[in-house]
Amino acid sequence: MVNPARGQPSPTGILSSGMAGGRVRIEAIAKVFTGIGGHVPAIQSVSLAVEPGEFLAIVGPSGCGKSTLLQIIAGLVQPTDGRVYLGEQDVTGQPAHMVYLFQQYSKSLLPWMNVADNVMFAFRHRVSLSRSAARDRCREYLAMVGLSDFADHYPWQLSGGMQQRVTIARALAAEPKVLLMDEPFSSVDALTRIDLQSLILDLWNERRFTAVLVTHDVDEAVFLADRVAVLSRRPAVLSEVIETGLPRPRRTIETRESPAFLSLRHRLLQHLLARPEESHAVSRGAHC
Ligand SMILES: Nc1ncnc2c1ncn2[C@@H]1O[C@H](COP(=O)(O)OP(=O)(O)OP(=O)(O)O)[C@@H](O)[C@H]1O
Ligand SMILES: [Mg+2]
Repeated sequence: MVNPARGQPSPTGILSSGMAGGRVRIEAIAKVFTGIGGHVPAIQSVSLAVEPGEFLAIVGPSGCGKSTLLQIIAGLVQPTDGRVYLGEQDVTGQPAHMVYLFQQYSKSLLPWMNVADNVMFAFRHRVSLSRSAARDRCREYLAMVGLSDFADHYPWQLSGGMQQRVTIARALAAEPKVLLMDEPFSSVDALTRIDLQSLILDLWNERRFTAVLVTHDVDEAVFLADRVAVLSRRPAVLSEVIETGLPRPRRTIETRESPAFLSLRHRLLQHLLARPEESHAVSRGAHC
């Protein structure tokens, strides 16, 4: 497993310089889907910067455009308007700059490949490594997610939580500057989810990639993130960005029971469950 003590993050987890993570900036992103059903305005105008090594969570009501926004950041969907930057580089609509972790682990693993080949498949075309160097890297990342003994197994021989660990190892073995995650833990049971959240936090602490997580789960957002961006109902605008300010390392049980955690959770739930007219009032009263 990773050594969480290596590399000391600041109390907020945001790194100041020399980190592995990349800075992501989106500027006035808008998206209108056009098709048989007419025009669907999904995102109105969202601007946001994620600092190198920061952990940002994005929450918002179902259907508000969270996945669309993440796919635009990843270059998988072209925005109708606006730009995406990685560092100083304009990467709008250009895939393969960031690694994307999907919710559906069962669909993202190749069933005819064993665990080791699934992990190596992700990075061998990105970096020129000899077969033995690739095997070493694969072994390293499987050890990090606690799956050293399962390299020769096939995905269907693993539990759901173990399969999601493989996708995490595969995502990180590509050593991304930015990891984008769309509801990555929502297909596993509650205890496995808590376990995987701690695993991601340990790996983030060790490797210092920039993390952007889309989630429905307010507890997950507060537990993991430095800042939580709240999107409005569709078409999404950024209604609030909350700095969690919770000390790190976060502790599985104690952090979730702390008064600061509960107060952030309360504030976010109040915001997300508010009816439209109330939600304006919540936004106006908040510090953005
Ligand atoms: N390819 C598409 N073509 C047309 N409309 C789309 C497409 N993808 C998404 N939409 C629409 O854009 C809106 C936002 O969808 P999106 O999947 O981004 O929401 P979401 O916030 O991720 O929802 P959820 O929380 O349920 O995952 C929805 O109204 C959806 O119907
Ligand atoms: Mg979604």
